[in-house]
Amino acid sequence: MILVTGLAGYIGSHTAVALLNSGKSIVGFDNFYNSSPDAVNAVKKLTGKDFPFYVADLTDVESMRPVFEENKISAVIHFAGLKAVGESVAKPLMYYQNNVSGTVNLLQLMMEYNVKRIAFSSTATVYGEPKVVPITEDFPNSATNPYARTKLFIEGILKDVCKTDPEFSVVLLRYFNPIGAHESGLIGENPNGIPNNLMPRICQTAKGIMKSLTVFGDDYPTPDGTGIRDYIHVCDLAEGHIAALNKIQTSTGVQIYNLGTGVGYSVYDLIHTFSRVNEINVPYVVCPRRAGDVPILLSNPKKANDELGWIAKRDLEDMCRSSWNFVKDK
Ligand code: UFG
Repeated sequence: MILVTGLAGYIGSHTAVALLNSGKSIVGFDNFYNSSPDAVNAVKKLTGKDFPFYVADLTDVESMRPVFEENKISAVIHFAGLKAVGESVAKPLMYYQNNVSGTVNLLQLMMEYNVKRIAFSSTATVYGEPKVVPITEDFPNSATNPYARTKLFIEGILKDVCKTDPEFSVVLLRYFNPIGAHESGLIGENPNGIPNNLMPRICQTAKGIMKSLTVFGDDYPTPDGTGIRDYIHVCDLAEGHIAALNKIQTSTGVQIYNLGTGVGYSVYDLIHTFSRVNEINVPYVVCPRRAGDVPILLSNPKKANDELGWIAKRDLEDMCRSSWNFVKDK
């Protein structure tokens, strides 16, 4: 049985669907801090499969204990965590406690119950400001905010644990920019309050919740002057976890993989593609650059292609169409 922590979240819910559809049995938990039971029900409805689910919190060991006590867990896919950069700057201790201490709690329980395989939800943010792109897994790491630092700390903790136990198996998955939603429109990205990231903000602008989208800088050294990112469809990302799971079940030690497409799109590419495929206007205004943004982030996904046999298949139009399909009637 595969434990999915943070199952009700954006990437957790899509991965749960992919796991169930590939015939795996799963158990999940979430504390619903930034998610809702609707996502758990939607996963069950979409797959026609039931699975044990717990309300549990990484920072409360005893809330997680029944998950381990009552299920025979063979591997963990660890999504649970806080992920808002701005909030992490304002409340660093909350981030260190939840993400770092919480993961230590999870690992202690894994040790206690002899679970030695884990795939961890990391991020391209651990590459800091890369000097060149595309980025390969051996690029140096740095963190420019507490959120990113929690991810780097956890990567380090997992590496240390591996050194103490030759049977331990860790896969660190460094996501680039996940967008899009399941084609059913039943699960997707549902941030509380005002979103930080580009696609949720495009959606809110298209719905008229935001009057216009703020383009953070059109003076970057890129072809159209706006920032370029490696956007990846969340369903491709979910499938990357299935491939990673096969890897941790057949290897030991630490493996690191970029999960991206290797193709970059600018802010204007996203706005224009979204408008075209969904036939909806997205008004925008150009503003100064956002502090901390880099001009271009782009993955080299070759290692995941070669070693996991995984490749992102969905294109930008799919990403824009499915993102809108999820939010348009909400
Ligand atoms: N952008 C805008 N306007 C917006 C929001 C974003 O122009 O309203 C631009 C940004 O400047 C950037 C691009 O859109 O060029 C993408 O921005 P996102 O916020 O969507 O994504 P980031 O690349 O900044 O975020 C990524 C991950 C986060 C992570 C963050 C850390 O998606 O999870 O890096 O810096 F926290």
